[in-house]
This record gives sequence, C-alpha cells and structure tokens, in this order.
Amino acid sequence: MHSLNVIPYPKKVTNLGGTIDLSDTDLSSINPCVDTSLKEDEYTLSIMPTEIKISAGGKLGEFYARQTLKQLINAGSCPCVKIEDSPAFSHRAFMLDCARHMTTIENIKKLIDAAALVKMNRMHWHLTDDQGWRVVIDSHPELIEIGSRRESSDFGQYHFNEEYSGYFTKDEIREVIDYAAKNYIEVFPEFDSPGHTLSILAAHPELSCKGEPLKVGTRQGIFDDILCAGNDEALQLVFDVLGEMAELFPCKYFHIGGDEAPKKRWTECPKCQARMKEYGLKNEEELQGWFVNKAIDFLRSKGKTAIVWNESLNSGMMPKDCITQRWMDKKNRSADFANNGGKVIVSDFYFYYCDYPYGMTPLKKTYNYNPIFKGLTQEGKQNILGVETPLWTEYVRDFDRLCYMFFPRFCAVAEAGWTPQKKRNLKSFIQRFENLSQMLKANGINPAPAKDWNPNPIKRLIELKRFFKGTFNLDTVKNSFSSTNA
Ligand code: ACM
Ligand code: ZN
Repeated sequence: MHSLNVIPYPKKVTNLGGTIDLSDTDLSSINPCVDTSLKEDEYTLSIMPTEIKISAGGKLGEFYARQTLKQLINAGSCPCVKIEDSPAFSHRAFMLDCARHMTTIENIKKLIDAAALVKMNRMHWHLTDDQGWRVVIDSHPELIEIGSRRESSDFGQYHFNEEYSGYFTKDEIREVIDYAAKNYIEVFPEFDSPGHTLSILAAHPELSCKGEPLKVGTRQGIFDDILCAGNDEALQLVFDVLGEMAELFPCKYFHIGGDEAPKKRWTECPKCQARMKEYGLKNEEELQGWFVNKAIDFLRSKGKTAIVWNESLNSGMMPKDCITQRWMDKKNRSADFANNGGKVIVSDFYFYYCDYPYGMTPLKKTYNYNPIFKGLTQEGKQNILGVETPLWTEYVRDFDRLCYMFFPRFCAVAEAGWTPQKKRNLKSFIQRFENLSQMLKANGINPAPAKDWNPNPIKRLIELKRFFKGTFNLDTVKNSFSSTNA
C-alpha cells in the first residue's frame, strides 16, 4: 500500500526510515537546485529529518515538487522518503463547458488551483455550442448580441422559462489564461463546428443549408441544422473566428470540435452537393473531412495544432499533425490513427465524462480505466498524448453541482495522467483523497461525499433511471455496467 498522502502518486518513492512532522514547514523557505540530468518537468524531493531538498529539471519540475510538498504539509506527519517523479503522459487536462452554463472567473480560478494541485497541465475551454456563444469576436459582434442569449432552458428535467445569457470579454479570458499560466496550465479554446453551431446560425441563418430563421438552442441534444459546407461565407466566418481566437489564446493547441454533425441537411443541400462534386468527395463524411481540413490548414498557418473529436476520423482524411480526442469511438478509429502516427487524447465517455451521475460512472470505473486502450500497437501506445476529463454543463447550473460532479473523478483522471499504470491503486487513492479533499474544501471546492462515489447496483439503476428519464435505453445500462476496458 502507498505510504504518502499525495495525489497523483509519485513515480518512485524510496523509504529512508523514520517519520517527520511537516505541519510547520514553510514552503517558500525551500530553495531548489537545478539538476540538468532531469527533464524540465521532472523533480526529486528528499524529505529527511534535518532537511527538505528539491532538485528539479526546471521551473516546471520545481512547481510540481511544491505541489507534492503542499499536500504532504497539509497531511502533517510524513515518512522520510526520497521521491523521484515525472509524468506518465504529457497531456493531463480537464474540459469545462461554459456554453450551456457559465461559471464565474473566480470559480474557474478555483478549478485551475485544483488542477495545478494534482499536476494537470491543460484546460480545454468549450466556449461555443448550440445553446450559447460565450466569447467576444470583435469582427462579428452579432455572435454575442444574438448567439449568447437563449430564450429558455429545457435540459432533461430542468425547465427554466427565463432568458439565459452571458459571455466572456477578451480581457476576462486573458485573466484566466494568465492565472493558469502562473500555475503552469495552458488554456486552449474550443470553437466547435460544423455541428453544434445553432448559436451562429441564429445570427446568420444564411449560413445554414436551408437559410431559414433559427434560434439559439434551448434543449440538449444534436441538431440537424449545421453550417453549410458548400457556402464560402460560412467558411469565411470560421476563419474570422479562428483568427481572432488563435490570437487571443497563446496555447499552440486549438480545438475545432467536429463532433455530432448530422449529415441530413448536407445530403439535401444543392450547395453542399456541388462542393462534393467540385472536389470529388464521395460522401458527406468526406465533405466534413474537407471542411475540417480547411480549419486545420488555417490554424497550421497560424502555428497552431488542431484537436478534433474522434468523429472527424470517419472521413479518413485527418492529417497526422492534428490530434484526435477520443470520446465515443465504437469502430476504434482512434487506435488506427494512433497506430499510424497520429496523436490521441483519451476522454472515453463511459469512463471520463464527469457530467454523468456516479450511478453511471462510479469513481472506481473512472479510476480503473487504463488510458492505453485496446487495439494499440507499440507505436500506437507511444502516440497516446494523455487524458482529459470533460464536464458538459447542460445539467450543471451552479458551481456546487459542478464540483460535486467533477470531484473526486477529476483527481482520478489526473492520477491516470501522471502515475504509472502499475503504481495505481484505487483503495490507496480513496485514502489519499481525504487529505486532498480538505485542501479542496478550504479553497471553495466541495467534492461529492464518499458515500456517493460507488453506489451499489440498485442505487445505480435508480440514479440512472432518474437521470435519463425519457431517454433511458438498454445500451446506456449495458455500457454503464461494463466496468473496465482491460
Ligand atoms: C461530445 O461529447 N459530443 C464530444
Ligand atoms: Zn449546405
């Protein structure tokens, strides 16, 4: 069993014998030394009765050493140890959906603090969707004027008749980016297209295939009306938005969505069909491939690497230099992509999505998931960039609920991203989470209580039924109860 009260658990811990009380340790008084044999994000930490010593490959390694020490200091008593530590994966992230429901900048900072504490290094900020446009684009003020307001909210069992609106100014976004950077976390945005774009089409119905008036979405789900891939003006708007957002966000990654884009309208649209003919595209999936490649090329010209949800692989046209985020990949195309040199981020729906109740995704299911999923060759395994836990907010209206859903699963995913698979242990994680939980609470984040993390099968069924009222199906139950990918 693990001996240190730290999440994520370090790569290597050597016991030196004895214990020490760290409660009165002043973290700022510890001066690290640079060890050029270590990588930028690696550190060693020696905790001895007479001295605490940090050696780090660089500022990042030093920061991670301090995150470890913060947790140990909070726990008080600590065995004397030598820790040699570095991350298992280079991408360790959470995704926050502010399109369906926003949260305040102060709350986002609290999430960033939590992410830093568990050594995550990226935040994926989902800022545009059917139900709201949340980022100011100076060249298109109508996206905020019209796209940020929905008439009502009809999400599952939640019905609110009043208008919901809001957006982040560029200064507010910069404030988040700066705060995150101080915590060694990069923020990359998501502008989702060609699907999930009702908030654009409400302002620009002429950019849809039918050209008829549309409203910002008020309910969850997938909508047939998407950007018309045969319309040059739709592409121009995508470039305008990408250009401004690429300038706003310094991160080299940029998420361009590409998920859940129904092909019904494209099949019936003369402009889309003409585009397919013009470029010899065999079907609408290839049309999506063509459209997404336009965005990828544009971003490449700005020095950015595009990330796409795994549906874009359906076209077979994704270049190797884009990154695929795997969430619902029944044909395991992301394995083929990785096996052939493409990079993949792992966010499997039934394991890493935190918007679903613990009855569907218990902590043990999230924790026990091995990000090295089935079907990967040796090369494919090397191409798994890391892990990311998304939280979609259709059903999450306030920060307390958000924290309940995210924590502790957020920290379980952080541990999967950092700790070597063979060193991971659920029982130990649960014990260690008590210490971390105290620290999170002191910073305004209230995790779900332990009794809710792993409900028994009857409780799970009841929770699932309540959550999916109206949309409950056998497939959901089957997948919810399959507990491992191994
Ligand atoms: C997704 O959950 N639609 C990526
Ligand atoms: Zn069209």
